[in-house]
Amino acid sequence: MLDTETSTTEKLLPIVLWPDPILSTICEDVVDFDSELVQLAVDMMYTMRQSNGVGLSAPQVGITKRVLVVYKDPIKLLDPIVMVNPVISQHGDLKFKYSEGCLSVPGYFEERERYQSITVEWHNVNGFEMSSQFHQLAAFVIQHEIDHLDGHVFVDDLSPLKHNRIKKKIDKTIRHMK
Ligand code: CO
Repeated sequence: MLDTETSTTEKLLPIVLWPDPILSTICEDVVDFDSELVQLAVDMMYTMRQSNGVGLSAPQVGITKRVLVVYKDPIKLLDPIVMVNPVISQHGDLKFKYSEGCLSVPGYFEERERYQSITVEWHNVNGFEMSSQFHQLAAFVIQHEIDHLDGHVFVDDLSPLKHNRIKKKIDKTIRHMK
């Protein structure tokens, strides 16, 4: 997947928790496809795997760049993909319902509907243009991660009452993880 001619060390990156303002930042397009980008992609992939996530966006590790990592098959955790500057160019009419969660909102889930199929255009870490269709859970996760790049977390629009409950839930989950 990644060109690792020179041995690259994987780093576990700390995950930014909601409602940190970094998660509300609209991320910038990547313009330099350099070794720093490759390192970020490697670290994000490692962090996603270690955190048992099925997707991770750069702002969740404190980098406000349009980079995300997902699995093409998120059920079997197969075929990881790094997407740089991803854009949804087409989407289906059908909706796909799933219990939405996020590594930045640990312990909280909310049933959501998203497009059942999407066509995504993106660049790989070497700057090559890529395009593919994604369905069901893979499409769901990519929509969730692209929302992060636009500064949106799936719990943002909920009521203040729910926000307080979510904050308590995060605190409790974090305490149990320690
Ligand atoms: Co998320």
